[in-house]
Amino acid sequence: MPVSIKTPQEIEKMRIAGRLAGEVLDYIAPFVQAGITTEELDKLCHDYMVDMQGCVPAPLNYAPRGHVPYPKSICTSINHQVCHGVPGDKKLKNGDILNMDITTIKDGFHGDTSRMFYVGEASIQAKRLCESTHEAMWRGIRMIRPGAHLGDIGHSIQSFAEGLGYSVVREFCGHGIGHNFHEEPQVLHYGKPHTGLKLEAGMIFTVEPMINAGKRDIKQLGDGWTVVTKDHSLSAQWEHTVLVTADGFEVLTVSAGSPPPPPV
Ligand code: MF3
Ligand code: CO
Ligand code: CO
Repeated sequence: MPVSIKTPQEIEKMRIAGRLAGEVLDYIAPFVQAGITTEELDKLCHDYMVDMQGCVPAPLNYAPRGHVPYPKSICTSINHQVCHGVPGDKKLKNGDILNMDITTIKDGFHGDTSRMFYVGEASIQAKRLCESTHEAMWRGIRMIRPGAHLGDIGHSIQSFAEGLGYSVVREFCGHGIGHNFHEEPQVLHYGKPHTGLKLEAGMIFTVEPMINAGKRDIKQLGDGWTVVTKDHSLSAQWEHTVLVTADGFEVLTVSAGSPPPPPV
C-alpha cells in the first residue's frame, strides 16, 4: 500500500482527533501525583475520552498481528519502561518519570500523542533526558516539508540524541495515521539525510522518538506489551501527529497545555 495523501475533509477530521488527544493529556496532568496508580490514570482518561469527548480510546483491545489484545485505554510507561506500559495497580512514587500515550478515535480518525510527566521532583538526569527527548522530537518535526526525506527526520533526531550520549530505540518507530491507527510509512528515529521516502503535502504521520539514557537494547515483558530497557536505564518518549503542508508542517496534536517547542 502506498502512503496515503489525505483529502481536505480527512485533514479537518484529523485536526479534531489530534486536538482531542492532546486535551486528554491536559486533563490528566494534574492527577499525576505520588500515590495514584496507573490503573486510576487509565480509568480517568478512559472516562474523559468516552463521556466528555465522545471518542473511542484506540488502544483498548487493539490487537496487531503477533500481539494479544491490549487490555487498557492508554499506555503508561514508567522510568525504564520504553513504551506500551500497561496500566496496573502500582502506585507512582516521588521522582518517577512517566510517559502517557493517548490515541483517540473521533469520527473514524485517529489522533496519537504522548508526553513525559514528573512525579513530584525528578532527578536532574531524569529531567535532562525528558527535555532532550522533547527537543529531539521537535528537531525531527522541524525537518518536515514537501521534498524532504524521512531520513532527514531520523538523522536529526539520532545525531542530536547520540551527541548528548543517549541512544535511540530502533525497534519502534513513528507511523502513518488516519483512518487506521498504524499505516505506512514507518518513520524511523535514526537514519541518513536525503534517504527514504520523499515527503508530499497531505501526508500525516507521527514522530515519537524513544531515547534511552543507557544502551539502546530493549526487551518485552511477559504481559506481551510492556517494553523495557535491557540495562534498566531510564527511557523517555514524546509523540506528536504531524501533517505535511504545502510549505512545511502542521502539528495536529497540540493543545492548550502542550509544552512550547524549544527555541530554534
Ligand atoms: N500509541 C502507540 C503509538 O504511538 C501505540 C500503542 S499500541 C497499544 O504508536 F496497543 F499499546 F496501545
Ligand atoms: Co504513535
Ligand atoms: Co502513541
